[in-house]
Amino acid sequence: MLVFVPPHPLIKHWVSVLRNDQTPSPIFKNAMGELGRLLIYEASRDWLPTVTGEIQTPLGVASVEFIDPREPVVIVPILRAGLALVEHASSILPATKTYHLGLVRNEETLQPSIYLNKLPEKLPEGSRVLVVDPMLATGGTIVAAIELLSGLGIANKQIKVIAAVAAPPALQKLSEKFPGLQVYTGTIDPTVNEKGFIVPGLGDAGDRSYG
Ligand code: PRP
Repeated sequence: MLVFVPPHPLIKHWVSVLRNDQTPSPIFKNAMGELGRLLIYEASRDWLPTVTGEIQTPLGVASVEFIDPREPVVIVPILRAGLALVEHASSILPATKTYHLGLVRNEETLQPSIYLNKLPEKLPEGSRVLVVDPMLATGGTIVAAIELLSGLGIANKQIKVIAAVAAPPALQKLSEKFPGLQVYTGTIDPTVNEKGFIVPGLGDAGDRSYG
């Protein structure tokens, strides 16, 4: 499994805004959207199918290359917090299809349960899938989400995970179960506490975005 922490100053900036416990909710949510946009930009390098052709400019004919609208990127935001991270994605990806997944962790056992699954019964062969969840803590949630995609026949190498903060337990679980996966994260933090929160992290991303 490959884990990327893109070394971009804007990514560091938005992670810093998110970490600050004084950041108010609307600014937190916007920072999450900006971070998601930049991470998706990085993840989409060399990954998007294009079509080529010729087009008439005002002064001549130019060879052109467009993103192929027939092969939209599949975006799977994990509710709730994934919604904020994916909010600005449409300003960077011309063609997408979004399928929401709702998962929530039990506060005591930290086990995730699925309360909403809008994945279709089948995805087109070769689909490129972005699974978006800001926090990869114990890893239970992201593993459950990718297992659902595996059940639809999506191979690990077709999936990229977009996260704001990832912690070692989640990265270890992912690499053991899904070796072909790629993870793009704003930062990697050292620990997860007994309540399942990443430390130092940025708190509860769902509550800070949506109350
Ligand atoms: C949080 C977070 C991740 C998950 C990470 O969601 O947004 O989805 O926990 O934890 P894990 O890696 O230990 O499984 P939460 O269950 O709090 O739901 P929310 O996004 O609706 O707040």
